Amino acid sequence: MARVLVTRRLPDGGLDPLAAHELIGPNADDSPFTPDQLRAHASNVDAIVCVLTDKIDAGLIAAGASGGRLRVVANVAVGYDNIDVRAASDHGVVVCNTPGVLDETTADLAFTLILAASRLAHDAETDLRTDRWHGWGITQYLGRDVHGATLGIVGYGRIGRAVARRAAGFDMEVLYHARTDTGAPGYVADLDELLARSDVVSLHVPGGDTTRHLIDARRLALMKPTAVLVNTARGPVVDEGALADALHAGRLFAAGLDVFEREPEVHPQLLSAPRTVLLPHIGSASQATRTRMARLAASAVAKVLDGGVPPNVVQPA
Ligand code: DGY
Repeated sequence: MARVLVTRRLPDGGLDPLAAHELIGPNADDSPFTPDQLRAHASNVDAIVCVLTDKIDAGLIAAGASGGRLRVVANVAVGYDNIDVRAASDHGVVVCNTPGVLDETTADLAFTLILAASRLAHDAETDLRTDRWHGWGITQYLGRDVHGATLGIVGYGRIGRAVARRAAGFDMEVLYHARTDTGAPGYVADLDELLARSDVVSLHVPGGDTTRHLIDARRLALMKPTAVLVNTARGPVVDEGALADALHAGRLFAAGLDVFEREPEVHPQLLSAPRTVLLPHIGSASQATRTRMARLAASAVAKVLDGGVPPNVVQPA
């Protein structure tokens, strides 16, 4: 029987694939382990099932390797910018994620933000709830049409393509930017050009050093003042300070954000920004999808502990 550290409470049934193993954690109140606690556990377990808020850095991997047991770390997320995959690989620790099972749910949320931000749903609802709506008016809450607009998708993996499928139902013209041309119509090789041509921009690139502040002040300035920016990828992809400035100055029409640079902190200027919808990182948060994610991560751990190689192994860049 192997020992598996589970850092946080997971949806019911999510850990079923690990029924044959000894599970350590999560904390009774589901509070996150501190970095020191994680390190201490790492040296004494065969596997870790973690979430995106756990920092699995080189020190933790080395501690796990020095204990001589740690073989696999499975992130219950498709993104894995919280894990030092290179350090894991150097120590022979397998890293797994949860691709494929959250694409449609995350695309649903991206589209929620596209619609809510474009139609000023947050500002209008806030007025209604705070007694600042005093009756219908023909010039109130004039948003931007989503149907017929040009959607620029940045990052054309599974989630980006799932957003594009939804856009077809809204008669949107879809452009996309990716490292390589997939052959699908709408490819724009130059990100700057895509930003300048789009009415709505939706971000679907992975997090990490290569995409940090991909959307910075210079690129925000390329976007139309009538455009809407949506981020369901990773917070650091956007320079939040620059985005807040653009929204406050009216240089960008609206934004819909599900992710932030320093979660759970949100830039104070974003909290006060007009025409902005802010959600607490709920892209994949449906009961069914979160359960599938947990089971996929747990199955990968079970497979590695059994001497196999799961399909969802992450390789260092
Ligand atoms: C992921 O899986 O990377 C999301 O951000 C959380 O669902």
